[in-house]
Amino acid sequence: MIALTDINRLYRSDEIETTALRAIDLSINQGEFVAIMGPSGCGKSTLLNILGTIDRPTGGTYRFQDENVTALSDAKLATFRRDHLGYIFQNFNLIDDLTVEENITLGLVYRKMAGSSRRERVAEVMDRVGIAHRARHFPSQLSGGQQQRAAIARAIIGKPDLILADEPTGNLDTENGAQVMDILTQLNNEGATIVMVTHSPSHADLARRRIDMLDGRIVISAETMI
Ligand SMILES: Nc1ncnc2c1ncn2[C@@H]1O[C@H](COP(=O)(O)OP(=O)(O)O)[C@@H](O)[C@H]1O
Ligand SMILES: [Mg+2]
Repeated sequence: MIALTDINRLYRSDEIETTALRAIDLSINQGEFVAIMGPSGCGKSTLLNILGTIDRPTGGTYRFQDENVTALSDAKLATFRRDHLGYIFQNFNLIDDLTVEENITLGLVYRKMAGSSRRERVAEVMDRVGIAHRARHFPSQLSGGQQQRAAIARAIIGKPDLILADEPTGNLDTENGAQVMDILTQLNNEGATIVMVTHSPSHADLARRRIDMLDGRIVISAETMI
C-alpha cells in the first residue's frame, strides 16, 4: 500500500540545518497496524507528516497504492488526502467555536453529499465513538477523552484507507487512552490501515508491528509476536 524509498527531510533555517529524517525505507501493507516509537525529536512526527502529505520530503519517493505521491501537485494532494487519509493528533485539534457535530461534519467538507446523508453519516460516526450525547457541546465543555473521540469521528467520517495518529493517547489518562486504543483496534479489524506514534509500550503492543526510530532513522522494524 505504502512504499517510502530513501526518504530524507532536511530543515534549513538561516544558519541551522536539521536532518529530521535520513534515508528512510519503509513499506506498509494494506490492513497493517504499525506503532512508531522513539525519543522526542527523533523524527516521528516528521515521518507521519510525510505519510500524511502535510509535509514533503527533501529527497526520496513516496508511493501510495502505486501512485507516486511525491510527484503530485498541491491541488492533487488535497484530493488525495480527502479520498484516502484520516488524521488524529495528540492535542485533538478541534475548532473551539464549533460544536462537536459541526467539527465532525468538517471532515466531509469538499465532498459532494446530500444534507440528509451527511447528517446520517455524522450521526453514525458519533454513535460509533460514543459522543452522540455531546453533539451540541463545544470542545471546551468536553473531557480530553471526549474531545479525542470527537476528533476520531472527524478523522474517520470519510472512511479513510489510512489513519495517521500522532500520540493519540498522549494527553489522556489511562482509561480514556484505553478507550481510544479500543476504537483504533476496532477500526483496524475492520480493514483500516493505521500508523500510530506513541510513547506507551503497552499501546504499541496493541499494534501488529513496531518501528523504533533514533536520530531520523529507523533502527528496528519488527513484527511483534502475537
Ligand atoms: N518546522 C521545523 N523546522 C526546523 N526543524 C524542525 C521542524 N520540525 C521539526 N524539526 C526538527 O526535526 C527533528 C524531528 O522532529 P519531530 O519529527 O517533530 O520529532 P518527534 O516527533 O520524534 O519528537 C527535531 O530535531 C526537530 O527539532
Ligand atoms: Mg512528535
